[in-house]
Amino acid sequence: MAYSTAQRSPVSSRAAVLQGSSLGELLLLARRRHAIDLAVGTPGYPEPSADLLKAAADAMQAGRNQYDHPSGDLLLRERIAETLTPGADPHTELTITVGATEALCVALLATVDPGDEVILLDPGYEQFRAAVALAGAVPRFVPLHPPTWRYDPADLAAAFSPRTRAVLLNSPANPTGRVLDHTELDEIAALCERCDATVICDEVYGTYVFDGRPSLSVSEVPGLAERSIVVGSLSKSHAISGWRLGFLRADAVRTEALRRVHELTTNGAATPLQVAVGMAALSMDLRIATEQMGRCRDMAQTIFSRLGMKFAPAEGGCYLFADVSSLTGGQHGGKQFVLELLDEAGVLLAPGAPFFADPARGEQYVRIAFNRQTDVLREVEHRILGG
Ligand SMILES: Cc1ncc(COP(=O)(O)O)c(C=O)c1O
Repeated sequence: MAYSTAQRSPVSSRAAVLQGSSLGELLLLARRRHAIDLAVGTPGYPEPSADLLKAAADAMQAGRNQYDHPSGDLLLRERIAETLTPGADPHTELTITVGATEALCVALLATVDPGDEVILLDPGYEQFRAAVALAGAVPRFVPLHPPTWRYDPADLAAAFSPRTRAVLLNSPANPTGRVLDHTELDEIAALCERCDATVICDEVYGTYVFDGRPSLSVSEVPGLAERSIVVGSLSKSHAISGWRLGFLRADAVRTEALRRVHELTTNGAATPLQVAVGMAALSMDLRIATEQMGRCRDMAQTIFSRLGMKFAPAEGGCYLFADVSSLTGGQHGGKQFVLELLDEAGVLLAPGAPFFADPARGEQYVRIAFNRQTDVLREVEHRILGG
């Protein structure tokens, strides 16, 4: 019997909705223009420590080139556990992943079923929406309001329902620079408890929290801790985004499920690189890196406020999220502004629209990555403000 497949797409519907990075075309233009790139989050500051680079070469020379435990090198898990508050059991509560990117997909696939609802704060990291779509889940967006990018508690409460399976948070946040405070996390905890929802919190920028604010993990908040999956990464804290090392922290029951999914997605991150960070990671002083990142933020804030942008100071992370409407006179959007700045000053910023569920809400915003060396930021100042 012949089957008719004439109408069948070669692409699954869950892949068809994925849009890919919004920055590709701009990055090509920037390269041609020899522009300074403040659009991508790739760390220009800090630099990977020399100890770390040597440890990676040593691990390869020493023969650590084959599969290792899929849940991750035990020494690395122990080292990461020591950095967490409260501490985690490296045997049963930590899994090393191929960056936070894999960790996010694994967390969603292990937590939600197709059709379940996942609550997202909006604007947010572009990949969250894509990962929710890939899991077949339904996003419920809670708007964040400028200039401080807080949610209205009534909107948050209204987003929860018996269909809510998970809440996907990010603190410190990309792109807004917000750090969720205790009051917000307590509110979220109360709602999650009522709906028995899991909290997945992307804390990849947790090292970078400014102005003496506490860097609060969901695993420290009663009501959230016991229902949380923390997504972490070494990409930004140790400036090794190309090594693709991240991790998942969750209770033992959730970790079992996370590890089963992770064994299917990648079956483990690169062995010698895990070994290297396990051997050398603690040689990097993250407190100094945080102080320096705070100075980078201050420089970026000075430069772009002098240019006339409006923004709330970044509380953490590596980004300013700025309103450019006073510069465009409301005549055109953030993307046009980005193209003009690229053309006139040779500096590339990221348009804000792709961070919003409804891009029209983001038309007047741009994102500025400030995890760059001081001399790069000085050159940006020179190009933009002259002098
Ligand atoms: C909020 C957020 N989560 C995750 C990632 C990706 O992290 P990784 O390099 O560990 O995959 C990024 C990268 O910019 C990010 O901004």
